[in-house]
Amino acid sequence: MRHDGGFYGGYGGQFVPEILIPALDELERAFQDFRQSDESIQLLNRYLGEYAGRPTPVYYAKNISEKYGFGLHLKREDLLHTGAHKINNTIGQALLAAHMKKKRVIAETGAGQHGVATATAAALFGLECRIYMGSVDVERQMSNVKKMRLLGAEVVPVEEGLRTLKDAISASLKDWVTNVSDTHYLLGSVTGPHPFPEIVAYFQSVIGREALEHFRARGFMPDCVIACVGGGSNAMGIFREFLDLTEVELVGVEAGGRSLGPGQNAATLTRGTRGIFQGTLSYLLQDQHSQVQDVHSVSAGLDYAGVGPQHAFLKDSGRARYESVSDEEALEAFHELTRLEGILPALESAHAVAYALVHATELRGRQVLVNLSGRGDKDLGIIERHMREES
Ligand SMILES: Cc1ncc(COP(=O)(O)O)c(C=O)c1O
Repeated sequence: MRHDGGFYGGYGGQFVPEILIPALDELERAFQDFRQSDESIQLLNRYLGEYAGRPTPVYYAKNISEKYGFGLHLKREDLLHTGAHKINNTIGQALLAAHMKKKRVIAETGAGQHGVATATAAALFGLECRIYMGSVDVERQMSNVKKMRLLGAEVVPVEEGLRTLKDAISASLKDWVTNVSDTHYLLGSVTGPHPFPEIVAYFQSVIGREALEHFRARGFMPDCVIACVGGGSNAMGIFREFLDLTEVELVGVEAGGRSLGPGQNAATLTRGTRGIFQGTLSYLLQDQHSQVQDVHSVSAGLDYAGVGPQHAFLKDSGRARYESVSDEEALEAFHELTRLEGILPALESAHAVAYALVHATELRGRQVLVNLSGRGDKDLGIIERHMREES
């Protein structure tokens, strides 16, 4: 996807303190070097293949397809090492950090998947690692916190604000400003200042490339590609390769939470307005005084008031459509996929599946590709709690 000086049709940019501009320039130069170096790309592909488990399969979910009347194809990012798409980006950026001779990485995490993937890449490449995580997320994703600590990362619970992803990103940016000379900020989604959206989308685009090859080899294309949207990295990763195939519909699914009222969801593109947040100009959930709104989602990885600028552009241009599903619908989809296909999806990914199931009548007879961004092991505590509350 093309950008103009870091802007995607008026969204994006670098809204950061002056002190970070040289670091962003250095990162952009390193990234351009990296993507043009055959040696670096070969190294990246070797780790993605032998270590992370790429390529991931596209699985035709026959039982759900028969029950709901449309063809459901799942891109199985849940099968990757550490359990989600996040590892594609962390291996890429850890190699970039090494290329820039940085010895330390920091990262934010919501669901803990990006934190685990960062801690994993740091262990692999011998980098010092600190992970910022809102204390609410520390509680609801404890199994991932334990994994990060075992991997040698320092996990810092953030007590400010709502104590979720937004606050973890703010803490990471603060750390980066202080330690910019020896530290790489390994940002986990297509958010933040340029060039992060471009870098993360590039490292995640392997998802769409593999999916496209899968369908080309079978002589047809999906009618519709669906992915959940938190910051937007798994969605950009699968959308990017389909952007020029305009007959393929692209649908991003946000967290509709408890309701579409203020503070009850994280449906940034469906309910938000233009605003500057955490280094970038994009859509944002904000009140009439431009204060960032509280957000809610049953899934920690979607619980974010902002969204990447590329999605803002895709929405305004009409190339992609953004919708939301509720906590309840996502939980139901989790159980459907688990019981009918034997696959426990992450609650984030269950949002994308839920959109397809809820709209089964409109999708009747069509071929639908859903990006199954991660596996649900980390969410079992939340699922059990909801099941108890219902009984
Ligand atoms: C499994 C999974 N899917 C999706 C997301 C949302 O992030 P993004 O929108 O950047 O893909 C997360 C975030 O933690 C996640 O863990």
